[in-house]
Amino acid sequence: MKITRNRRVSETAGRQSRSKFPNALYSEAGNKMIGRICGTGSFVPEKTVSNDDLAKIVDTSDEWIRERTGVARRHIAEQDTVVTMGAEASRRALENAGISPEDVDMILMATSSSNVIFPSAACSVQREIGAVHAGGLDVSAACTGFLSVYQIGQAYIQAGMAQTVLLIGAESLSRLVNWKDRSTCILFGDGAGAAVLQADESASCLQTVFHSDGRKGWTLTCDSRHKDGAKDLSGDPSTFIQMDGKEVFKFALTKVPEAVREVLEKTELSTDDISWFLLHQANIRIIEGVAKRLRLGMDRFPSNMEEYGNTSAASIPILLDEMNRSGRLERGQKVVMSGFGAGLTWGACVFEW
Ligand code: ACO
Repeated sequence: MKITRNRRVSETAGRQSRSKFPNALYSEAGNKMIGRICGTGSFVPEKTVSNDDLAKIVDTSDEWIRERTGVARRHIAEQDTVVTMGAEASRRALENAGISPEDVDMILMATSSSNVIFPSAACSVQREIGAVHAGGLDVSAACTGFLSVYQIGQAYIQAGMAQTVLLIGAESLSRLVNWKDRSTCILFGDGAGAAVLQADESASCLQTVFHSDGRKGWTLTCDSRHKDGAKDLSGDPSTFIQMDGKEVFKFALTKVPEAVREVLEKTELSTDDISWFLLHQANIRIIEGVAKRLRLGMDRFPSNMEEYGNTSAASIPILLDEMNRSGRLERGQKVVMSGFGAGLTWGACVFEW
């Protein structure tokens, strides 16, 4: 990989905009560098909880859950945290990329379910994997988390602030779920996925879109404030995920196809050019609905929520890792990634694998 740092504006006459990025990386051809995913990894806890197991604690059934969500089981962390899961996924991603932890410049970790507020989960992962030269920070964007860190990582690379960025999505939502609420506890699972993004002069075809609508934030919340400011002494966790399922469903079916169309328009590509649409794994009916609205069959919309449930920020990188290791992703294929979730936030990106 040939890259040039600190190229002066005077050396690149006519490209004044580069002066805003004094450290930006440029290829030999003078194009601003973008990142390519060069390795992936994932980790899920060993313990699984089946739909039948859940039917023993809430009024539900395997049939109802499979039909409405596509989930059959989920992996649940016992001793693991977002840090231990994220670190293991990262080790596997770095090994897959053939990159040493010392070569990582930046760790961007998407999580909303760390068991500590600080230090950040990214810094704890840095410690665990020995990425001694990396900076680290967490990004809180719920189910849109992995798309967010991907976009931020690309921005770091384009601005010349990093050459190698470790992207992580890790969640332990089982600690935030109300296990007495059948409308939410059936949906979620725990796990982590990671990807190594590296500046690559041959990488092309990157476009991203990201949107938020805070007015609809009430539809999906995890409120950690104690009622009336009082401490909850009942022994029940005071932090619960609460969701208006129908509103979230409608939101996803409207906004995800819009974001996919928007990002394809920016690249002047059509859906025919895309080999894979990797969507956040919230619910199989959402994925089927998005495919239908884009007038596409399900064959290019891989899913794995049957095994993992909705792992929020971890769902896309776990899927990406499965696609990579099974050989379904081939170099040169164009891929769309789309995330959506609390905030509300949603977006999409298109890249070449
Ligand atoms: N088992 C059996 N019955 C249930 C269950 C359950 N686990 N949960 C709800 N029900 C009942 C309800 O009480 C209701 O009963 P009622 O008619 O007697 O009142 C009935 O089933 C229908 O409830 P709805 O909420 O209308 O069910 P719906 O078909 O909308 O499915 C679901 C609920 C699966 C949550 C759906 O709304 C959905 O998929 N929403 C998308 C939300 C989502 O995927 N969120 C993921 C997190 S957010 C994210 O990742 C973006």
